[in-house]
This record gives sequence, structure tokens and C-alpha cells, in this order.
Amino acid sequence: VIDISKLYALTGKFTYDPGFTSTASCASTITYIDGDEGILRYRGYPIQDVAEGGDFIECCYLLLYGELPSKKQKTDFETRVTRHTMVHEQMMRFFTGFRRDAHPMSVMVASVGAMAAFYHDSTDITDPMAREIASIRMIAKVPTLAAMAYKYHIGQPFIYPQNDLDYASNFLRMCFAVPCEDYKVNPVFARAMDRIFTLHADHEQNASTSTVRLAGSSGANPFACIAAGIACLWGPAHGGANEAALKMLEEIGTADRIPEFVARAKDKNDSFRLMGFGHRVYKNYDPRAKIMQQTSKEVLAEIGHADDPLLQVAIELEKVALHDEYFIERKLYPNIDFYSGITLRAMGFPTSMFTVLFSVARTVGWIAQWKEMIEDPEQRIGRPRQLYKGAAERTYTPLAKR
Ligand code: ACO
Repeated sequence: VIDISKLYALTGKFTYDPGFTSTASCASTITYIDGDEGILRYRGYPIQDVAEGGDFIECCYLLLYGELPSKKQKTDFETRVTRHTMVHEQMMRFFTGFRRDAHPMSVMVASVGAMAAFYHDSTDITDPMAREIASIRMIAKVPTLAAMAYKYHIGQPFIYPQNDLDYASNFLRMCFAVPCEDYKVNPVFARAMDRIFTLHADHEQNASTSTVRLAGSSGANPFACIAAGIACLWGPAHGGANEAALKMLEEIGTADRIPEFVARAKDKNDSFRLMGFGHRVYKNYDPRAKIMQQTSKEVLAEIGHADDPLLQVAIELEKVALHDEYFIERKLYPNIDFYSGITLRAMGFPTSMFTVLFSVARTVGWIAQWKEMIEDPEQRIGRPRQLYKGAAERTYTPLAKR
């Protein structure tokens, strides 16, 4: 790593790096990725251990505070989160202003941003206690807003949180329960949801996290910063990829059509790409994809679809691509999105909710990164430069003479 932070001050020169492929925008102690080896660690702990050994609440504590919690610390933290799962009753009116057919991600951007207008006491970012309460509120309330976005979309009444349930079960209940019927959370689905949240919780300086940091670097309201992150996550090259991956698998439909799609992905005159393949940082198998594949098998077995045709197409497509020169040369492997769409669909979520679920999970990562930035004595407002390629100075002609 070369520190060029003083380059401009000393030489009057700066570097040109579109897409920031070779630029570290900050120093961080939260998440470590070795893309060549396919390693992901939260605060030093391998993702496999965090996802399989603990639960999402433990993962949130680890990301926020840097250490695994003791039993008491975990219980206290869970209680604090649970106490904040309700949203202001006025938020309901806010929701009903949206068209029913609005994409739930647009509703998320707006409703999370709107929290800035409801929780004034947690927006003084210079006060550590205010930062703490804003963090807890966000982890607690974003799932409630996400479930409300879903319920509003399908025209069902909102379901209030039930705080004796764990985080994932509470979320599933808010999404799938209806007032007139008994609803029991399926424990296999709850475990899968919890693992999906953990796998997506943080991923160092990806586009949406960098957006949150950049927005936060100006001292902006934390709820507004997270709303900015959600907006960025929406794109198909980022959080929208699992939706796109599932659509692609559905379009392929059967294993015999795989060669046709692989050929299209390799054709430079065709804009088609294998969705759920390739990653800016991983040049090896995404470690989250392995856990995700296992989770999808568990969920499909639970609903009696162990031989789900889309899962079979995905497994076969992975095999074909991993033996194809084009993908080998470019180090293109399945990423987490390749299997997550199949799993979420099997759990009953429509594709329009996939990126919303990602935003629920990533909220803790965004907050941990935002807090780290605010508390960093070296933090300054983010202000990239540009390589100007426009016209040199020109003489202005008044409108009357043009
Ligand atoms: N299918 C076919 N070819 C691909 C794919 C793909 N999925 N991904 C990259 N390539 C090719 C490119 O065409 C390029 O080929 P070339 O060198 O012959 O021109 C080469 O691999 C490098 O690709 P870049 O676009 O330069 O790689 P970059 O790091 O910028 O892109 C990205 C990473 C956006 C993830 C890309 O691999 C992609 O579009 N994948 C599909 C979308 C996807 O799955 N996104 C999810 C990312 S993970 C997440 O957000 C949680």
C-alpha cells in the first residue's frame, strides 16, 4: 500500500482511478477480504465461523463493537435492539402516500430517510450517546420498515413486531403473518434468514458502504446516510444482482440451454453477463456463496423441493463456467447472489423484495462503517478529484447573438 494522501499538497498532482480499483478510501478495522484466496473475516473472525457458530445479533455486536459479546452483553444488546423495533405511528401515514405498485426499494430509500424527521434526538453526530442510539434504532427499525414496505406492496395490513421472537423470526413474522390466522415461524427458514443477514452484514468498501461514508463525511444526518446507501445498493451491478441472477436462471430454465447462455456471456457483442458471477474483489470462490449454496439446499429440502429445477440449473451452470477458459482466465466465480435468489424465492419472498432484504442485513455494516469514520480523528470530508476532458476556455456569446 502506498500512502499518497499528501501527494497533491506536495506535488500538485493527483491520481486518476475510475471505479477506485486501486484506491483505499479509508483505513478500517471492521472487515477483511483477501479476494485472491477467497477469504472474508469480520473483525478477524472467518465468515464461516460467524455465520455457522453464532447468530445475526452476535454478528451485529461484533461489527459494531469489535469483540464477540459475553452472554450478558449479548442479552443486553438484544434487549436494547428489541425495545426499538416499533416505528413512529405517523410512519404509517407516510407509507400510505406511496403508490401500491412502487418498487419496495424506492419505499425503503424514502422511509429510512424519513426517520431523520422522526428521531431528532439521535441525530447529533458529535454526541457518542446519540450515535449509539441512532445505531440501535437503525438495526431495530429497518426490518420493521422493510416488512411494512412488503405488506403495503401486497395490500395487506402491517404486522407489529413481536419482541419475544429472535431478530430473523420477528422479521419473517412481520412479512408473512396475517391478522386473522395463526402463524408459526418455520425454524429452518428463520435459521436461513439469520444466516443470510449475517452473510450480507458487511463487505468493506463496496459501492453502497462507500456511499454511506461519503455522505456521512459531510456530517450529514445518519438516517439520511443509510438512505443514500440503500439507493446505491438498488443497482443491478450491486444489491440488485440476486434478483437478476434468479431471472436469468428462470430464463435458462433447463440445463440443456446452459451452453447457449454461456456463449452469450462470452460474446463481446452481446451485453448479457452471467448474473451472480464475477466480483470486483473476489478472484476466487466467494466464501459466502458456499454457505449460501448449502442454505438453499436446506430451505428447498424443507419445502420438499430438494430437486428444484432452478437449483439444478444453477449447480450445472456453475460446473460449466468453472471449467470454461473464458471464466477461468478472468477469474469469474459465483458470488453470494448466485444462490441467494433461489433461497429467498423458496422462502416465499417475491423478487422485488430481494434487495430490500439485502439492505436490512447491510444496515449494521453501514452503521459500523459510518461510526468508525465519524470517530476517526483523521476523517475529512470525502472530495474526489476528476480528470477534466472538456473544452478549454471559450468566449461566451450572448443569447441574442447566437
Ligand atoms: N459474465 C460474463 N463476463 C463477465 C462477467 C460476467 N458475470 N463479469 C465480468 N466479466 C468479464 C468482463 O466482460 C471483462 O471481460 P474483458 O476483460 O474481456 O473485457 C472481465 O470479465 C472483467 O470484468 P469487469 O466488468 O472489468 O469487472 P468488474 O470488477 O468491474 O465487475 C462485477 C465486477 C460488476 C461484479 C461484474 O463481474 C458483473 O457485472 N457481474 C454480474 C453482476 C453481479 O453478479 N453482481 C454482484 C456483485 S456482488 C454484490 O454486489 C453483492
